[in-house]
Amino acid sequence: MNAPLRYALSEAQTLAIQAKDAAHYLHPFTDFQALAQIGSRVIVRGEGIYIYDSRGNRILDGMSGLWNVNVGYGRRELADAAHKQMLELPFYNSFFQTANVPAVELAATIAALAPAHMQHIFYANSGSEANDTIVRMVRRYWDLQGQPQRQVIIGRHNGYHGSTMAGASLGGMWGMHAQGGLPIPGIVHIEQPYHYGLGADMPAEEFGIVAAGWLETKILEVGADKVAAFIGEPVQGAGGVIIPPTTYWGEIQRICDKYGILLISDEVICGFGRLGSWFGCQHYGTRPDLIAFAKGVTSGYIPLGGVIVGDRVAATLIEKGGEFNHGYTYSGHPVACAVALENIRILREEKLVDNLAQTLAPHLARRFGELAEHPLVALTETLGLVAGLVLAKDKRSRTPFDESLEVGMICRRHCFENGVVMRAVGDRMIIAPPFIITVEQIDQMVALIRHCLDLTLAELKSKGHV
Ligand SMILES: Cc1ncc(COP(=O)(O)O)c(C=O)c1O
Repeated sequence: MNAPLRYALSEAQTLAIQAKDAAHYLHPFTDFQALAQIGSRVIVRGEGIYIYDSRGNRILDGMSGLWNVNVGYGRRELADAAHKQMLELPFYNSFFQTANVPAVELAATIAALAPAHMQHIFYANSGSEANDTIVRMVRRYWDLQGQPQRQVIIGRHNGYHGSTMAGASLGGMWGMHAQGGLPIPGIVHIEQPYHYGLGADMPAEEFGIVAAGWLETKILEVGADKVAAFIGEPVQGAGGVIIPPTTYWGEIQRICDKYGILLISDEVICGFGRLGSWFGCQHYGTRPDLIAFAKGVTSGYIPLGGVIVGDRVAATLIEKGGEFNHGYTYSGHPVACAVALENIRILREEKLVDNLAQTLAPHLARRFGELAEHPLVALTETLGLVAGLVLAKDKRSRTPFDESLEVGMICRRHCFENGVVMRAVGDRMIIAPPFIITVEQIDQMVALIRHCLDLTLAELKSKGHV
């Protein structure tokens, strides 16, 4: 599996970069001291579905970077689009009644892909910023509706909506709330629709209705006239690829409709094709009022995020709102929008979303599903091009490993060392490969994962943990 060494740095160069990294670079979501001791793995190049580290190892990127490099690495068209736009107009803002062509074209392009009742776009630079914008928009909407008391937004435990003050507050990651005084006021949470973890004693469909019912319970607890919106990812990504039962989203929609509250679909991961439709809400048949997007809109080649705004919110903001006192210097950045347009052209012309839905998703479901036979694996599940499996000490009784063993991290280490990126979320191992992966490469990826599960099992046995 080793790549030609021409991509590699010398060992001395690698060590020098690692030393500078440890001395100056504070990485996101990282224990700084631990990283400095171990030294980063330095990634120097990407091509197709592979990344290459500075020591010349080729690694199959089972996570598409951070769920975003959907068209794969090394796409010259995207670099060319950025280059051309930089020479033509590298920046101009969209404040003060000005516009640039790529931002306008991209808004129209996204509107054409979005559900028919969602025709307006507000740009941000990331998923976190998109969700900050959403909090401002939701509260502004209810002010303009003459219901300023509707302030409360309901999110979910183990949901992830970003790392800014508002994004991290909407999310339900307790580790994040514990740092920095979160959540900010007016944001509360309900339990997630995690069938394996919370409802395995009942059929999944029944559990889906029960889990959606927690929203209604919370609405009544807060007071229906105080609730502004509910936010959720169609499939929870960072929480560990939690795929809700098929009954869940329809029931959530019914409850939102019943109480007139806005539905926010955070599609930072699911948007732009990952579940086999352009947006996850289209897969589940919900009618959101607001969609957060980022990541896949540019396949990660350049930062861009935003909000797709549904008609009832857009009409209110436009007709009654006057100036919306909100925006970013880089809202509608022409270079980012030009890259996004090119990325969407690639997705469309290469029929990547159709191919994902018709060929890759069923193949991944079949092959990844076979991992359920492995003695360490208590559950596998997939949807579109996301997949997760649960590592368990005793798969029959679903007895988990002691958390302190960090079994997921052991497995992740074996994966990295053996040429495949898999992410660990507690005892769940997850993947979200690029859309350009082939069926043969899916087979290779699953074989690598199986090998790494074997190595994990062997290590756990050798230490007496199984
Ligand atoms: C569902 C979801 N929302 C928001 C975000 C935050 O996006 P960003 O990291 O671009 O701020 C993420 C990032 O993983 C995400 O998965």
